[in-house]
Amino acid sequence: MSTTTQQPVVTLKDKHFIVSIPSAVIQQRVAELGQQINRDYAGKKPLIVGVLTGAAMFTVDLFKQFEIECELTFIRVSSYNGGLSSSGHVSSVIGLKEQIEGRHVLVVEDIVDTGETAVHLMKELGSKNPASLKLATALFKPVALKHEVTPDYVGFEVAPDFLVGYGLDYDGLGRNLNDIYVLKP
Ligand code: IMP
Ligand code: MG
Repeated sequence: MSTTTQQPVVTLKDKHFIVSIPSAVIQQRVAELGQQINRDYAGKKPLIVGVLTGAAMFTVDLFKQFEIECELTFIRVSSYNGGLSSSGHVSSVIGLKEQIEGRHVLVVEDIVDTGETAVHLMKELGSKNPASLKLATALFKPVALKHEVTPDYVGFEVAPDFLVGYGLDYDGLGRNLNDIYVLKP
């Protein structure tokens, strides 16, 4: 049985992408992060909060590494044109059913690009008085960052290029790719 789905080039709609981070490299890094989180959260019974849709794959892979007592839930971030903020773009958390007050909360994101989504998300969850609130992200584009947010656990720091795969999409497509691909220049 083949264990790799890697194709060197994929085409999604009109765009061509080439492999940037192979699945085996991603899985190795996820295992390392999992061990780190196992140590950091021992005895804390964290609530893991995955952000749909993009972080679904990373959240599940990471969650499977945990040997600690922990819970899992998923939320969405709704983006809409607030019309009042300078960016005209406001995010708010939807779908959180758990009480997070007094709990150790670890948010899991697919990517922190400008940081706008993460900054709103962390602010909103932080206002509910969790015991601690940290952010894990599969990918981080430090050069693109425009907001004050520092991810606590980072899979890979990447250049500010457009990526697909491992949950990330181009116009809805490509989330199912096991490798991470970069837009061909
Ligand atoms: P932000 O700019 O940090 O708020 O990122 C917002 C969202 O943009 C992320 O959650 C992703 O859904 C999307 N995004 C950012 N960079 C990429 C990329 O390289 N590929 C696909 N989606 C991206
Ligand atoms: Mg996202």
